[in-house]
This record gives sequence, structure tokens and C-alpha cells, in this order.
Amino acid sequence: MKILVTGGAGFIGCNFVHYMLEQHPEDGIVNLDLLTYAGNLESLADVESAPNYSFVKGDIADREFIMELFQKENFDVVVNFAAESHVDRSIVDPGVFVRTNVMGTQVLLDAAKEFGVKRYHQVSTDEVYGDLPLDRKDLFFTEQTPLHTSSPYSASKAGSDLLVLAYCRTFGLPVTISRCSNNYGPYQFPEKMIPLMLTRALADESLPVYGKGENVRDWLHVKDHCAAIDLILRGGKVGEVYNIGGHNERTNLEVVRTILAALGKPESLIHFVADRLGHDLRYAIDPKKIEKELGWKPQYSFDTGIRQTIDWYLEHKEWWQHILDGEYSNYFNRMYKL
Ligand code: NAD
Ligand code: TYD
Repeated sequence: MKILVTGGAGFIGCNFVHYMLEQHPEDGIVNLDLLTYAGNLESLADVESAPNYSFVKGDIADREFIMELFQKENFDVVVNFAAESHVDRSIVDPGVFVRTNVMGTQVLLDAAKEFGVKRYHQVSTDEVYGDLPLDRKDLFFTEQTPLHTSSPYSASKAGSDLLVLAYCRTFGLPVTISRCSNNYGPYQFPEKMIPLMLTRALADESLPVYGKGENVRDWLHVKDHCAAIDLILRGGKVGEVYNIGGHNERTNLEVVRTILAALGKPESLIHFVADRLGHDLRYAIDPKKIEKELGWKPQYSFDTGIRQTIDWYLEHKEWWQHILDGEYSNYFNRMYKL
């Protein structure tokens, strides 16, 4: 199979490239990425000369470029990770989220349709379902939960999901969609909660917890997400949505305390700051469908996954220090008003 991976220089995309090259050396992978602030080729340095891997710099929303690439490469499968992915940035500047996540997806769908791609997979998020109340632990997101978005980020992801399903129904494009819960693991950009807290705690800097830290996220190790997408590509039914999550609900405060305890740092580093606008209360996935239909099961519990992740950040200081030393420091100071 020849697979186009878009956004493969980002957090989940680069983990997916590594995963696929290990698991399926018979497949060819072309990684297309615009290398925005979130794209980092250092995450792929170890595979850049692999014979079945190549990188192309480009924009999924650039129609002419995308059409030429599809004509040249004759892809069997497209896996679309490329997106603007940070809720806080979507609150400051929603426009680029609509451009990349909605319009970029539409360009990819047109190209997949025109060049007869055999499977188009959209990497989506549980955030399209909105949030659940904190006091109803019995409620979970299923594939039937109505879309009910809160942030410009989640609204743009829901918009792209609807386009993907429309291209299936109207044009018969063979699509699948996965909606995963919050990921963590190696190569995550340090604007996201877990690597942000981890890298700041290591430097004895304050940890900005929004509101009271009571919001709940359902954490999944990125490798378990990659394995789920691989299973969907090979066995998932066309036109179907698959939720992915491992029942690892934690309040933000619990996660931050776990990180501090693992690093031997004091809880006095925790600083409660103004809440995020429109902050979703709780996410929790019901993964029964992918478990039953495709036999997917996560390999990591939150305890083993967070330990592996902490060790990775301890062993790869250079990777994240390059980011902290670059343009990101301006973003952090602006966002957290330092
Ligand atoms: P990320 O921000 O780390 O990476 C996004 C990548 O897309 C970057 O490499 C960036 O350069 C690239 N990109 C951005 N705009 C582009 C464009 N116009 N053309 C080509 N490339 C472009 O994001 P991530 O956390 O790896 O998320 C990947 C996908 O998974 C996203 O679609 C996101 O919505 C989804 N998702 C993320 C999570 C999570 O917890 N991080 C959970 C569920 C789903
Ligand atoms: P984040 O990693 O941005 O993922 P998402 O908003 O997509 O779930 O945030 C995870 C949780 O952590 C979310 O409830 C917001 C919270 N959070 C903080 O408390 N402080 C921070 O500095 C950040 C970035 C997030």
C-alpha cells in the first residue's frame, strides 16, 4: 500500500509514521506537512533515510499542489492528521482553524475522489461531542452522541467530519473516521497540558492550572491511538465512525500531581489561573465498538503510559529544549501574560 500521511511531522502523525514503518515495512509512506509551529522534522530524524519513507513540505489547503501530488503519487490510502490542534490558539485566532481543518480537508477529499483513493481516513477527536457533566460518571460518548461543539477548534473538526461523511454518501468515497480522546506520549508539543506541566516542573517553574483543576480528560497513550487507526484502515467498515479511548479519566489536578510526584517536585509549583473560555468539563469515551468489531485493546494503562512518557521527556531534553528556546517562548509569554 502507498499511504499519504498528512501532518506527519506533528505529535500523533510522527508517532504514526514510526508505528507504520515498524509494523508494516512492506508499505510506502509519504509524509506531507506544512511545518507550522507544531511540525518538527527532528521527530523523524531516525527514519528520514528509510527507503519506503519520504517527506514533502506543503499545505493541504493548496488545491493545485495537492492535485499534482495525488496525480504523481497514486496513493492507495490517505490518513489526514494535518490540523490546527490547540484549543487555546483557536480562541485567539479561529480563522486558521477553519482554513486548515475544514477547507484543507475538503481539498484532500476532492483529490481522493478524483484520483480514486481506496480509503480516506479522517483523524478526528472526541471534542466534537462537546462535554459531559462532572456529576454523571455513568455517561460516555458513543458514536451516536450528537455533535455539540464548544470551541472554534472542535467546531472546525466537526465541520470536517461532516464533510467527510457527505463525500461518502454523495460521491461514494470510501471513508472512515476515528474520534479519539486526549493523547499523551513522546514528541508532544509542550503547549499541551502534559508536556507543558512536565517541562515546566523540571525547570521548577509555576504550573498554570485553569480554574480549579476539576475538569476531566480521558487520557490515551499515543501508541494505542496509532494501533487503533491501523486496525481501522485494515478492517474498519466504510462510512463508519470509531471512538477510541481507554477509560483513563483523570482530573487535571490529578494529572499534575502525578507528574510532580514522579519528578519529586513540590505541589507548591501549582498555580491556579483564570479558566479557559468555554472550558469543556469532562470527556469520556465509550470504546465498545472498536473493541468488539476490530478487537482493539490499549496496551498502556495511564500509570504505565505516563511513566514511559516522563522517562521519554527526561531522556530527550534536547528535543523539547529546542522548542522552548524558539518562537514558542513568545507564545507562552503572550498566552499566560508573563
Ligand atoms: P499537532 O498540532 O501536533 O500536529 C499537526 C501537524 O499538522 C503539524 O505537523 C503541522 O505542521 C501540520 N499542519 C498544520 N496545518 C497544515 C496544513 N495546512 N497543511 C499540512 N500540514 C499542516 O497535532 P496532533 O496533536 O498531532 O493532532 C493530530 C490530529 O489528531 C489532529 O487532526 C487532531 O485534531 C487529532 N487529535 C488530536 C488529539 C490530541 O490529544 N492531540 C486527540 C484526538 C484527535
Ligand atoms: P489540552 O492539553 O490543551 O487539551 P484539550 O483542551 O484539547 O483537552 O488541555 C487539557 C486540559 O488541561 C484542559 O482541561 C485544559 C487544561 N490545561 C490547564 O489547566 N493549563 C494549561 O496550561 C493547559 C495548556 C491546559
